[in-house]
Amino acid sequence: MQQCQMQIVENMRIARDTYRMSLRANELDLSLFTPGCFINIKIDDSAYLLRRPISLYEIDLAAKLVRIIYKVLGKGTELMSKMAAGEELNILGPLGSGFPIQNDSQSVLLAGGGVGVPPLYELGKRLQERGVTITSVLGFQDADSVYAIKEFETLGQVFVSTIDGSFGQKGTIIDILNKQEIEFDTLYSCGPAGMLKALDEKYQGKKEGYLSFEERMACGIGACYGCMVNTKAGLKRVCKDGPVFALGEVSYE
Ligand SMILES: Cc1cc2nc3c(=O)[nH]c(=O)nc-3n(C[C@H](O)[C@H](O)[C@H](O)COP(=O)(O)OP(=O)(O)OC[C@H]3O[C@@H](n4cnc5c(N)ncnc54)[C@H](O)[C@@H]3O)c2cc1C
Ligand code: FES
Repeated sequence: MQQCQMQIVENMRIARDTYRMSLRANELDLSLFTPGCFINIKIDDSAYLLRRPISLYEIDLAAKLVRIIYKVLGKGTELMSKMAAGEELNILGPLGSGFPIQNDSQSVLLAGGGVGVPPLYELGKRLQERGVTITSVLGFQDADSVYAIKEFETLGQVFVSTIDGSFGQKGTIIDILNKQEIEFDTLYSCGPAGMLKALDEKYQGKKEGYLSFEERMACGIGACYGCMVNTKAGLKRVCKDGPVFALGEVSYE
């Protein structure tokens, strides 16, 4: 785990309340960052003691850049959205376990919902380099919230759902998966807890799969036990033992 200042290269609105930020990573060893791990961002204001956990959307080893996509939800992300190129953020990372990449997997399903979509893109790029067939199913609230579709289309076939039906198919990604016959060996997903639970119920025992949980966090480094999740092997910390857990591992009661 490293801590350093990173310079903002770009901070651009890409959908309603949603921004893509590129950060220059001169001091970080980006080879330690794997898809699914996250960084903890310090908001440069003494009123905000807790860092904000954000996944990596893209890791550009050649340009020494990382990209994140974040949604403005509260005060911390609102302050981030007002920052300009040239300003700096203090970053702690990489944190958490990444998505395990299986050598024998020939085809994968990437299933993302809302702010859970970003970490699946870097994963998809790495899988594409290995010749894996990729299908993405991405869910959003409405047409104004949709982002990164063109990028996911470079990986393979993409299905999109919106709750109000204003873009793609009406409903959730589960509705798409119930209708479409998508062939895949391994599932990778990140999104709201209800979506992850529905995927777990649909595929556990039938497919190999990994779910990334975006639980509320405090320390983000395993010290405060403030992000516990119940698993079949007892309580685990999402920030340190996760955020990625295998299908069937988490207990939702
Ligand atoms: C592993 C992980 C990866 C994430 N990746 C992304 C991403 O790629 N893009 C994105 O838009 N969002 C992501 N999130 C959610 C993001 O961390 C929260 O939306 C953000 O922290 C909200 O901060 P805030 O100050 O705007 O909100 P506030 O509600 O003001 O935050 C108050 C406190 O609660 C914490 N908090 C609030 N909501 C969440 C949440 N959903 N998850 C964790 N902590 C939260 C904040 O970090 C802060 O400490 C991720 C969360 C986790 C745990
Ligand atoms: S947030 Fe402190 S242990 Fe996970």
